Amino acid sequence: MVYFSKGSPMSAATPIPVRSPLPSALSGTTAVLIGGSSGIGLAAGVLLRSVGAHVVLVGRDSDRLKAAVSRLRSARPAEDSDDAVLDVSGDGGDERTLAEAFDRAGHVDHVFVTAGGLSGAGPLTGLSADDIRAAFDSRLLASFAVARAAATRLPAGGSLTFSSGILVVRPAPGMTAPLSVTGAVETLTRALAVELAPARLRVNAVRYGRIDTPLLRSLPGLDSDDAVATAGSTAPLGRFGTAEEAAATALFLMANPYMTGQVITVDGGETLA
Ligand SMILES: NC(=O)c1ccc[n+]([C@@H]2O[C@H](COP(=O)([O-])OP(=O)(O)OC[C@H]3O[C@@H](n4cnc5c(N)ncnc54)[C@H](OP(=O)(O)O)[C@@H]3O)[C@@H](O)[C@H]2O)c1
Repeated sequence: MVYFSKGSPMSAATPIPVRSPLPSALSGTTAVLIGGSSGIGLAAGVLLRSVGAHVVLVGRDSDRLKAAVSRLRSARPAEDSDDAVLDVSGDGGDERTLAEAFDRAGHVDHVFVTAGGLSGAGPLTGLSADDIRAAFDSRLLASFAVARAAATRLPAGGSLTFSSGILVVRPAPGMTAPLSVTGAVETLTRALAVELAPARLRVNAVRYGRIDTPLLRSLPGLDSDDAVATAGSTAPLGRFGTAEEAAATALFLMANPYMTGQVITVDGGETLA
């Protein structure tokens, strides 16, 4: 067994940066949030700014991005500076967009991916090869692009956090393509954690239950506060999760230097019910 004593084989390897596992340890770090203009990514941005991190938001809709930048700037107005919150408009799976985000940040410690919708949803027999490819491209191929960028740009101690959902373990009909690729992102998480550990990079994922975000509210019958409260009342804790509760888990994974290769579920106990 190898311990970290002086003179052991491990002592020549990249040291593990030891930091506080509290979110306050993220103060002064920089995070790139791919999908940071809405929902869980936006909430992560607000939380990160509130603990003094610098944030780069990536999303496709530039108006949504501008609104998100204003929201983040108001989270810490007294200490805001021009470069504390930046935005890059584009597809988060596009290598040029990712390069621009990393270049503008200058130095990136953490990457959190919440981009990715439900491309390819529909009954199996109605799916074309293009539908399936769209699901693959938008989530799995995009995750590989982010991972490649992160692997070459993050310093030792950096982290990459992906997003998943509990439908991966409790599937619903009509979701074969999106759930297959989301499940693959969880496998990618563990494979990357092993591959990137020698560089002291950490890779984790958060698997969400039903979280009250614009994505959830875009689903049929969930477009009002009352509808969300009524539907949430059947959940074990009597409500859906908030974007902040979901995002806080991602901050924990960024901040805790001994977390890697994990998929943490934040679902208010829904998978137990
Ligand atoms: N909310 C839930 O109940 C729930 C449950 C299970 C899993 N999840 C997963 O959690 C993640 C976050 O969900 P959310 O509820 O926060 O969604 P959301 O409110 O729709 O936010 C998604 C964000 O990602 C951006 N985005 C989407 N596709 C992108 C792309 N190709 N490139 C760059 N940005 C992109 C969106 O902006 P633009 O559209 O402007 O690009 C938006 O900022 C998703 O992966 C979702 O599948 C959510």
